[in-house]
Amino acid sequence: MEGTDKKKVYIETYGCQMNVADSQVVLSLMQEEGYEPTERMEEAHLILVNTCSIRENAEQRVWGRLDVFRQQKEQHPNTRVGVIGCMAERLKEKLIEREQSVDLVIGPDAYRALPDLLEEVESGQKGVNTLLSREETYGDILPVRRGKNKISAFISIMRGCNNMCSYCIVPYVRGRERSRDPQTIIREVEQLAGEGYREITLIGQNVDSYKWKDARNNPHSFAWLLEQVAKAEPGVRIRFATSHPKDLSNDVLQVMARHPNICRHIHLPVQSGSNRVLKAMNRRYTREWYMNRIDTIRSYLPEAEITTDVMTGFPGETDQDHRDTLSLMEYARYDFAYMFAYSERPGTRAARKMSDDVPDHLKKQRLQEVINLQNRLSATSKEKAIGKTFRVLVEGPSKKSKDDYQGRNSQNQVVVFPREETKTGDFAEVKIEKSTPGTLIGRLADNQ
Ligand code: SAH
Ligand code: SF4
Ligand code: F3S
Repeated sequence: MEGTDKKKVYIETYGCQMNVADSQVVLSLMQEEGYEPTERMEEAHLILVNTCSIRENAEQRVWGRLDVFRQQKEQHPNTRVGVIGCMAERLKEKLIEREQSVDLVIGPDAYRALPDLLEEVESGQKGVNTLLSREETYGDILPVRRGKNKISAFISIMRGCNNMCSYCIVPYVRGRERSRDPQTIIREVEQLAGEGYREITLIGQNVDSYKWKDARNNPHSFAWLLEQVAKAEPGVRIRFATSHPKDLSNDVLQVMARHPNICRHIHLPVQSGSNRVLKAMNRRYTREWYMNRIDTIRSYLPEAEITTDVMTGFPGETDQDHRDTLSLMEYARYDFAYMFAYSERPGTRAARKMSDDVPDHLKKQRLQEVINLQNRLSATSKEKAIGKTFRVLVEGPSKKSKDDYQGRNSQNQVVVFPREETKTGDFAEVKIEKSTPGTLIGRLADNQ
């Protein structure tokens, strides 16, 4: 066997795309320290778990994984275990107190301290750093992107969140909002394009509040950044997430309309369709404002698909509030939605000031109604595509059959088709013949 003496680091990632991007930053930092990434926990010297606190069950999963890491450590006592990310930030030293096998606890803004903290661990202490920062963007670090799919990549353009939605833990665990230097973003876009990447997603908790002041103190917006990125690499598809309905500007929609390489998809989390609930959530838009955003998207970008996040059972939610959510979903005709039951997060405004008073069974019943409706909306939305031809970025074999390939169209819908001569990373023209609520099914169009 070709052995190397390099120490190995294994990282497991939970939560949102921000965490996926952060794990790549952490791998980059550890590579600088001479560590080599591995997919196999058993051979790792350092096990890291990048965690999420968004709902209680996200944290439960991590506690379950810590049991597994403890057993691994019992067999290999030199293995070090680190909890990083949002749950590290929320629970801090409590993680070490509750789980002896944890050596390191590092919050999302403290990853540069990882090598030093590891040294402390070697000298017999525990390593903890959960300081949040007003400046850290890791903008100078080139993330290590692994895995088979060298086709699409995330680029983090900002960190933190200032919105303080009353249910949400993110502002507490990710700190204040800060935007990354656009030059470093463009450089990364060009580098990825040079390596053959075909799709880049700009990510942040609220990309529409991206703000950058240049050397002459001129402010630049997300619309500006999006246009710079789209122009820098016209052959690369550009996506972005997430947009906050209160901030999604017409400027952004106009930039999208001007640049065909910006994908015709907007993820616009609604959370609730009731003005009363939206106010209690501190979302700072109304049902009417949201409907106007939907109308405006459709007028600038008639071919765009809109997706969303919906939450049921927020404190005080009545049957009427719930029906308002259902009717707004019908109005928006979402192509897809992430749907959740409210989970109280300690320390948030909702936890401090409101009573989690919708009984569990009702939260679940409403969630099921939301899911049933969305299935119907997804089915209708996909049926619209039958007979149309889409440019699809091929991602590889489909989940169900080796002979079929799958990819996504600009609208972010999954498209499955018989492979024929196509290969991963190609753009293929696919004519849609059938659909399910989750998938478009077609074949390669002639004369592409
Ligand atoms: N920044 C994004 C969302 C980030 S969290 C935005 O503002 O839309 C992703 C989704 O998790 C949220 O849109 C919300 O639907 C859900 N979520 C957040 N906190 C939650 C909680 N306490 N309980 C249930 N779902 C929650
Ligand atoms: Fe949470 Fe609201 Fe910020 Fe999204 S915008 S991360 S839901 S506080
Ligand atoms: Fe979870 Fe943190 Fe993302 S709480 S959703 S991983 S920002």
